Amino acid sequence: MNLIFEPSTFGTRVPAYLHRLERAMDNYLPSVDTDPDRLHQAMRYACSGGKHLRALLIYASGEALGAEPERLDPSACAVEFIHAYSLVHDDLPGMDNDDLRRGHPTVHKAYDEAIAILVGDALQTLAFNVLANADTLDAEQKVRMISCLTLASGSLGMAGGQAVDMTSEGCTLSIGQLESLHGRKTGALIRAACQLAGIAAQASDPVQHALDHYGNCVGLAFQIQDDVLDQIADTATLGKTAGKDLAQHKSTFPSVLGLGQAQRRAGALFNEARSAARRISRHPESLLWLSDYIQQRDH
Ligand code: IPE
Ligand code: IPE
Ligand code: MG
Ligand code: MG
Ligand code: MG
Repeated sequence: MNLIFEPSTFGTRVPAYLHRLERAMDNYLPSVDTDPDRLHQAMRYACSGGKHLRALLIYASGEALGAEPERLDPSACAVEFIHAYSLVHDDLPGMDNDDLRRGHPTVHKAYDEAIAILVGDALQTLAFNVLANADTLDAEQKVRMISCLTLASGSLGMAGGQAVDMTSEGCTLSIGQLESLHGRKTGALIRAACQLAGIAAQASDPVQHALDHYGNCVGLAFQIQDDVLDQIADTATLGKTAGKDLAQHKSTFPSVLGLGQAQRRAGALFNEARSAARRISRHPESLLWLSDYIQQRDH
């Protein structure tokens, strides 16, 4: 039976979506014995574990719009490759200097710094190679997707947000500055995931607009939660070192607004995302389920 619009919840299909994502990523990543084998081993190490929420956003958005999963696989992999690269670089000593990621040593700890830099470089280019060669998409879709993902991950998106994050250490940002920073460093890629699904599904302009709003709300709420969890969760649950933001004098939502106010702001954004989901499709169940799932996460 076709997966699309099956009445059971999206949650029951998540294992199948994760399975197809992991199989597709495995196909795209060079094998561990391909020369240079240490680099390829480290690329696979960097892509393992993780909640794969950005890929799930693509499958959930695609499902709400009636897109076949085969059309969603290339962008789901591409977004996860960009995300994995961003984490490997984020953990480097020159950035957040973290030893633990997804419950395991960070790439520069398990391998070395040069390999970690190169893993990021190679995963980034692999992401665009996957889109350029996707045989389930037409040429126009591929170009639009590449344009969307380059914008979201470059200096006006994720990389730019990371730059502002680093230069803001030790400063107290206003709430507006913090929203702009979070919108770029984390929100841009989450928003791009929703946009990519819209391109795969050939969504109309109003639907793309609503997808954009859903992605914006979830993206900002997601980083507020990341800041909150950094403050209230423990290292074992998080799989990364807790309490790093305070130690590194980062401006975060809980540090600027207070914990309760930050949590309420995230809650309001998730509610706004749910309203946007209802404008995306008459079958928004997958998007409603996923926003609940992201809201309830503990790591
Ligand atoms: C962590 O993202 C980094 C941020 C952008 C806040 P995730 O919490 O999605 O990390 P993984 O992929 O599940 O490990
Ligand atoms: C990382 O934000 C955002 C990107 C990697 C683009 P954080 O520095 O807050 O992420 P964690 O807390 O290390 O996962
Ligand atoms: Mg960081
Ligand atoms: Mg970090
Ligand atoms: Mg964080």
